[in-house]
Amino acid sequence: LREHEEFTKVKNIATIELGRYEIETWYFSPFPPEYNDCTKLFFCEFCLNFMKRKEQLQRHMRKCDLKHPPGDEIYRNGTLSMFEVDGKKNKVYGQNLCYLAKLFLDHKTLYYDVDLFLFYVLCECDDRGCHMVGYFSKEKHSEESYNLACILTLPPYQRKGYGKFLIAFSYELSKKESKVGTPERPLSDLGLLSYRGYWTRVLLDILKKHKGNISIKELSDMTAIKAEDILSTLQSLELIQYRKGQHVICADPKVLDRHLKAAGRGGLEVDVSKLIWTPYK
Ligand code: ACO
Ligand code: ZN
Repeated sequence: LREHEEFTKVKNIATIELGRYEIETWYFSPFPPEYNDCTKLFFCEFCLNFMKRKEQLQRHMRKCDLKHPPGDEIYRNGTLSMFEVDGKKNKVYGQNLCYLAKLFLDHKTLYYDVDLFLFYVLCECDDRGCHMVGYFSKEKHSEESYNLACILTLPPYQRKGYGKFLIAFSYELSKKESKVGTPERPLSDLGLLSYRGYWTRVLLDILKKHKGNISIKELSDMTAIKAEDILSTLQSLELIQYRKGQHVICADPKVLDRHLKAAGRGGLEVDVSKLIWTPYK
């Protein structure tokens, strides 16, 4: 990852403090000019306001009354909660989240026009409050059928299955909208790995259970995964054959099992019975 830095703007903020973590940053993020002389920023983990000095943060924490992201809790399962934050209603929070996220996202031109986006902020909750582990953003209206714009798991929480949970969640929202969806391009290396893993597991699980022929259209209807993404996933697994001018899915159980083993852990499941949500209008 680090080699990307040479090609992007010089990173100014080297570390951030967020909740109980001190986190090394990965990339440049365009904080307002008055932060140009800073190498470390102190974030309030709840409202995501950032400050230059620890004492400022401590003073802030005494009066900040947020204990979770500002928005509706749309999912709760044990200690895991998802909050939906409307960028128009919570502009400053949305902007702060974008500044924070850009520290770990290289290739994205982040839109600071946060009005147009909803932010889905995943939290681990305890008696001190709801602590953000990651988020994804989603355009309120996407012409290109994007169901996710940016996704981030904060580094201390990476490789624990939260990324795949966020991806699964984005498709559950698409199912509730009766739409197919796809992530905004380009994907980062880690983004592509996570999506490939998710698509592979979801599709192979269906193919394993399904008896008889199944088309890409049917798979797309069942999963809300866009047909192109299904085709590219199955092609990369060499499960597609081209016969008599048609794509045919070949689902030899032995081959499926081999791929499923290689696809790794399933990650945290989204329990849809715990999702209380209606599409944005
Ligand atoms: N090395 C190798 N493989 C990895 C790594 C890594 N460091 N991190 C994730 N993966 C792969 C693995 O296959 C993993 O599955 P496995 O653990 O079962 O093997 C899979 O990705 C997903 O792992 P999760 O634990 O579910 O994902 P995580 O919580 O780590 O989040 C994410 C993945 C969101 C991509 C995270 O790495 C991140 O925030 N990266 C920085 C920001 C970024 O690149 N976001 C995507 C940009 S593209 C877009 O926004 C549309
Ligand atoms: Zn605060």
